[in-house]
Amino acid sequence: MTEPTTQTGTAQQTREGSERRILVCIPTYNEAQNIESIVGRLRAAVPAADVVVVDDNSPDGTGDIADRLAAGDTRVHVLHRKGKEGLAAAYVAAFRWGLEQGFDVLVEMDADGSHRPEELPRLLEALERADMVKGSRWVPGGTVVNWPKSREYLSRAGNLYTRIALGVRVKDITGGFNVFRAQTLRDIGLDNIAAAGYFFQTDMTINTIEAGHSVVEVPITFEERQYGESKLDKSIFVESLARTTAWGLKRRRAQLARLTGRGRKPGVTPAS
Ligand code: GDD
Ligand code: MN
Repeated sequence: MTEPTTQTGTAQQTREGSERRILVCIPTYNEAQNIESIVGRLRAAVPAADVVVVDDNSPDGTGDIADRLAAGDTRVHVLHRKGKEGLAAAYVAAFRWGLEQGFDVLVEMDADGSHRPEELPRLLEALERADMVKGSRWVPGGTVVNWPKSREYLSRAGNLYTRIALGVRVKDITGGFNVFRAQTLRDIGLDNIAAAGYFFQTDMTINTIEAGHSVVEVPITFEERQYGESKLDKSIFVESLARTTAWGLKRRRAQLARLTGRGRKPGVTPAS
C-alpha cells in the first residue's frame, strides 16, 4: 500500500483558527544560547499559541532561563525532567501534558532556530485539510541553509531509504517541524511510540498514517543552528536504520498477506 501524502478524505473540519488552542512543544538540552530568542520569535509570530519548554535538566542552565521566561509570560510553560532521556521522551511528556490541558493543536519545534517560527502560520493553515502537517525540506520550495553537503546527502538518503522500506510517499519523514490535531495524537496512542531518539519523527508519521489519518507536507527552510551543538550521534542513526528496516519488513509482510487474501485488516476508522 502506498499512502498518498495528501488524503483529504479523512481530514476533519477544524474550528476557526482563532478558537483553536495551540501548544508549541520545544524540547531542550543545553540550549541556553537559543531558548530566549526562539521563544520570543514564536510568541511574536503566533501570539495566540502557548509554548511549553521541556528541559532535561540541562547542565548549561537552559531550564532556569525557561523558568524566567515563564514567570514573565502566562503563555510560556516549562516541564522539568530529571535527566537526559532523549527527544522522544521529552515530546511524549509535552504531548501528554498538552492533551490534559485541553489543547486542540500540538506542534513540535526545535529550540536551536532550525525551524523558523515565522513559517508556523503556514503549517497551521495546512492543518485545516490534514490531520498531521510536516514541515518538509524535500518537497518543491523546501530547502536547507548552512548544511554541509554531507549532512544533506545523509538526510536525503535516509529519507529515500525510509520511503522505499516503509512504502510511504512522505518526502521528509524524519523532519521534526510537525503539527498534529489533538485527536490524531489520541488516536495513535502515545504508548505506541517506541522510539527513543530520532526515529521518533518517522515513528509518529507512520503511526498517524496507520491510524487512517492524513499527512500533508508543507515546504520549509531548515536552517542549521548557529549556537550549541546537535545531539545527533551514531547510535541514534543506527537505531533509526534498524527500526526503519524492521518496520518496513513488517509492513511488507502485512501487504503480502492482504494480497494473498490472508490476514485481512479490519477497516480503519476515520478521524471523527
Ligand atoms: N529535552 C530534551 N532531551 N531535548 C533534547 C534532547 C533530549 O535528550 N535531545 C535533543 N533535544 C532537543 C534539542 O535541544 C533541540 O531543541 C531539539 O531537541 C533537536 O535537537 P538537535 O540536536 O538540534 O537535532 P538535529 O538538528 O540534529 O535534528 C533535527 O533534524 C532532524 C532531521 O534532520 C531534529 O529536528 C530532529 O527531530 C530531526 O529528525
Ligand atoms: Mn538542530
